[in-house]
Amino acid sequence: MSEGVIILQQRFGFHLPTRIEFGKGLLNYLGELVISITGGKKIFIVTDTGIEKAGLLSPVLNSLEKENFNYHIFNRVTPNPRDVDCETGGEEAKSFGAELIVALGGGSVIDSAKAIALLHRHDGPLKAFEGKGKVTRPIIPIVAVPTTAGTGSEVTRSAVITDTKRKFKMTVKDIMLAPKLAIVDPETTYSLPAELTASTGMDAFVHAIEAYTCRESNPFADIFALAAIEKIYHALLPAVEDGDRSARDYLMLGSLLAGLSFSHADVAAVHCMAEAVGGLYDIPHGVANSIFLPYVTSFNVSADPAKHAKVAGACGLPVENMEDRAAAELLITDLKKLSKKIGIPTFSSLKGIVPADFPRLAEASVVNGSTSSNCREIKEKDYLDLFQVAYYENS
Ligand SMILES: [Fe+2]
Repeated sequence: MSEGVIILQQRFGFHLPTRIEFGKGLLNYLGELVISITGGKKIFIVTDTGIEKAGLLSPVLNSLEKENFNYHIFNRVTPNPRDVDCETGGEEAKSFGAELIVALGGGSVIDSAKAIALLHRHDGPLKAFEGKGKVTRPIIPIVAVPTTAGTGSEVTRSAVITDTKRKFKMTVKDIMLAPKLAIVDPETTYSLPAELTASTGMDAFVHAIEAYTCRESNPFADIFALAAIEKIYHALLPAVEDGDRSARDYLMLGSLLAGLSFSHADVAAVHCMAEAVGGLYDIPHGVANSIFLPYVTSFNVSADPAKHAKVAGACGLPVENMEDRAAAELLITDLKKLSKKIGIPTFSSLKGIVPADFPRLAEASVVNGSTSSNCREIKEKDYLDLFQVAYYENS
């Protein structure tokens, strides 16, 4: 009853602008699925060279050729994608006369595709669209095909792109950036190396935890978040350790559910720190998220012990008869163990990290748009402390 009262007092919305098709082998039917959302024939494909080498581009091209589509391939996407590459992509899409974008890849590719679709219809630079709701005209449709589990970018309305001049990860967020169609085929992840499975899986896990515990959480997003936490927690280790295919299927589903949750809530301080680090160093987003998760959770517990205890319960930890704070403490210990088991490096062991940069990282974290969503108020000094604890505890 008390929960019902809270729901009645809270205003929230739930708008899913993306059609989702989930299933093994769907990559081979991409052409047919694309026909259902466009009358156009000119497809601009955004991908990266790793996807081509993994053999994932060929079935896409075959299915597009079968349906008589013309295509142009843009493969210059890097991890921690850069504004300058998106601006080049936007120009190429304009000169090709693109009518639809297919994004085939991980979060970097899908986020780049969103920025390219934006710049295809608007004059740059990309920086002019930083923040929420700056897109003024509809963009061409995006079909997102994730190949990691993952960022959930296939169902979100934001793109996180590095501003190369400021060495800062900026977020462009607008409902118009949401893909029209997400084709989620778990088979695309079957050959993903263990290291990438671990880092991308932890990114998805953090999406779900932050969506559930942040100030922007709502009853709809919570349902997706808890389902995602349960699936990802149980699938991550077998997917990383022996590439178990059934675990990879669940991880892909968990990542999608996590994407649905945080796109209708928000992320929070873990992502603020990870994005600050990703803007300055070439460190995978999921690795940074995994490193900071236990420390931010420890900082946050006092603001909402009950929700953190529920996260522990969703992970299947033995917390039935525990006080909420004790359950949350068990969760923190377990998060550190999980990170270690799946081979996530420690903060101090990462190449190039120097404590002299921590004030700059704290400054970049506090100005991140998701800082205000963190369940406990967090200031620049708190971020500085968290960077230091994460660094010195394991050095
Ligand atoms: Fe993320």
